[in-house]
Amino acid sequence: MASNKTILMLPGDGIGPEACNQVRRIIDWMAKRRSVSFDVKEGLVGGACYDVHKEAVTDETMADAMSADAVLFGAVGGPQYDNVERHARPEAGLLRLRKDMDLFANLRPAVTFDALLDASTLKPEVISGLDIMIVRELTSGVYFGEPRGMQTYEGVERCVDTQAYTRAEIERVTAVAFDLARKRGKKVHSSEKSNVMETGLFWKNIVTEMHQSGDYDDIELHHILADNCAMQLVKNPKQFDVIVTDNLFGDLLSDAAAMATGSLGMLPSASLGGIDENGNRKALYEPVHGSAPDIAGKDLANPSATMLSFAMLLRYSFDLQEDANMIEQAIQNAMTSGKRTGDIMADGCEQVGCSGFGDAVLAELDKLAA
Ligand code: IPM
Ligand code: MG
Repeated sequence: MASNKTILMLPGDGIGPEACNQVRRIIDWMAKRRSVSFDVKEGLVGGACYDVHKEAVTDETMADAMSADAVLFGAVGGPQYDNVERHARPEAGLLRLRKDMDLFANLRPAVTFDALLDASTLKPEVISGLDIMIVRELTSGVYFGEPRGMQTYEGVERCVDTQAYTRAEIERVTAVAFDLARKRGKKVHSSEKSNVMETGLFWKNIVTEMHQSGDYDDIELHHILADNCAMQLVKNPKQFDVIVTDNLFGDLLSDAAAMATGSLGMLPSASLGGIDENGNRKALYEPVHGSAPDIAGKDLANPSATMLSFAMLLRYSFDLQEDANMIEQAIQNAMTSGKRTGDIMADGCEQVGCSGFGDAVLAELDKLAA
């Protein structure tokens, strides 16, 4: 069946391919049981691309990414690439996709699963029912600011990275955060270091202006310094609803929030571009975890984060809310039934592999669709 919904799958390195395989199975299931079909194209990224082309992503794959309705990304990186020149390192492929597709809004939900409350190092009462959305600016800040690199002058070695933000860059990501909060708990924490950084004060002032414009009167706004935000995420994470922050702080705070849930293997993310004149937006979906080279290829990985990223893809790129709900519910049910991959294994549960967990999710989907 030809479909007008195109997905570019970029499995990448490490556990990326085996996790993406489980999503392939869900896609096949959807075609059969839900009459929803996709044109899925696959491409190389990261080390897998470097091995063949000596670069982390090719122009051809970039063109495919630009024309696809959505990109599903696995993971990149591995110790064998530690000495590869910086511009060709596996991470460079991901950064190019983010930048060239202009995916400025990175949505990183941190949600606890009841079945996994004991997996967190935090007390169950601190994290039960936790549901935070971190909105990380993804295409600017110190990740991309110029100048960068060595500036050796008269024998003095000096190296710089540049943190820079334009008003428009701050405004567009803040708007995404306010709009999301409106559909959730109506509370936004904007996080920066305005006590030290000029860009932090600029960020804070713009967010304040936007809030005072009258467009977001229904949203409660708080400003929080990024170091305090990290501490509060560990101390009392349930005070947060939506957190909006820059690229670097978002990288750090989303890892902290992820670990509060106890299960990095469970967390998906969406990276979204602006909405064009036809109402479409470029989008890339990826698990928050990395390539986990130590367990790669051994059928040990937890495919949940990649499956949940696919559920986000259905939700945000194709508005297939019911199918997204089904997949999320099937994953919950598989865990509640006691099927667990090694990373979230607990007493009394049955340990399964990556494909075994895929089997369990498909069986639960069958029940939900019956
Ligand atoms: C992330 C990762 C990336 C980042 C790396 C792999 C470049 O840590 O997505 O959080 O720093 O953004
Ligand atoms: Mg990170």
